[in-house]
Amino acid sequence: MNNNGLPFDIEKIIEDARNELEKITRKDELEYWRIKYFGRKGVFAILTSKIPELSQHLRPEAGRKINEAKNLLNELLQQKKIIVESAQTYNDTGLNYTLTGLKPDYGYFNPITLVSRDIVRIFQNLGFGVHTGPEIETDFYNFEALNMPEDHPARDMWDTFYLDAERKFLLRTHTSPVQIRVMEKLKIPFRIIAIGKTFRRDAFDASHSPVFHQVEGLMVGYDITFSNLKAVLIFFLRELFGSNVRVRFLPSYFPFTEPSAEISISCVICNGRGCQTCGFSGWIEILGAGMVHPEVFLKAGIKEKNITGFAFGAGIERIAMIKYRIDDIRQFYLNDIRFLTQFE
Ligand code: PHE
Repeated sequence: MNNNGLPFDIEKIIEDARNELEKITRKDELEYWRIKYFGRKGVFAILTSKIPELSQHLRPEAGRKINEAKNLLNELLQQKKIIVESAQTYNDTGLNYTLTGLKPDYGYFNPITLVSRDIVRIFQNLGFGVHTGPEIETDFYNFEALNMPEDHPARDMWDTFYLDAERKFLLRTHTSPVQIRVMEKLKIPFRIIAIGKTFRRDAFDASHSPVFHQVEGLMVGYDITFSNLKAVLIFFLRELFGSNVRVRFLPSYFPFTEPSAEISISCVICNGRGCQTCGFSGWIEILGAGMVHPEVFLKAGIKEKNITGFAFGAGIERIAMIKYRIDDIRQFYLNDIRFLTQFE
């Protein structure tokens, strides 16, 4: 063995130290090892103390070798320390705190919430206020003030859940009663939307649900025309479904608007060519709307002559189903996590 004339074999010392270190699993063992090599009376202290006994020409070389060995072993000591400490944590508690944590699963928004937020954002950008109304309504707000007196045949458009034998209280069949409540409260001119739950005695199948959501819109002022209605709705539908979408207005009937319109968009699935979703018509009906009927203004206590307005209503589920291509309305209410995690 060639030690360059030195009275110790530094390579052998390093090798022994490494082997010992390798076997260490506990903190206290590691501390013994540290003291053995780096302690005040440790291997390196002794070696260093022997340097002055060497002949002059060997001293620098001996010092350098000892320092190199110290640096190397100190490096290994620090590495081992990390390993031993984390393993120790594990041994004491049965848990290894050094492992990367599992991400907790977080909540997702129902597509109804996502679409509602989109709608609110679009209308807020147009200066519309956001209002709400009660889900339990009176006959007055749900029907009578909307130009449907008792026995009006148009009441059959909605199968109603009544809450009492006198049929005075009911679950609102649409969000249109909010129109009356807002007109009673706000100063003209104003523009608002209202989103909320509505109820109808419908089957619970792929396309019907006894509870669903609507968005109502109402803009009232001194110079509101059908052109304003068209401009607002075309803007809204293009914001929601994309700027390529075409919008169609057809005459329709609602007791509380005159004239009334039914509004469709070009089918977002087939782009108007015709497919299953649009019933091969190329169009998807999405909104009811019209100019506020003069009788409705009167019922809401607005007597001024030169006031006009437009109103519209749409089903949120229907919008969500078209936007996210959902083919069964029941999916919204089943709380199936596999469904709910698909939308952002
Ligand atoms: N309330 C109507 C419905 O539920 C929709 C509508 C709202 C139509 C406002 C015209 C104006 O079918």
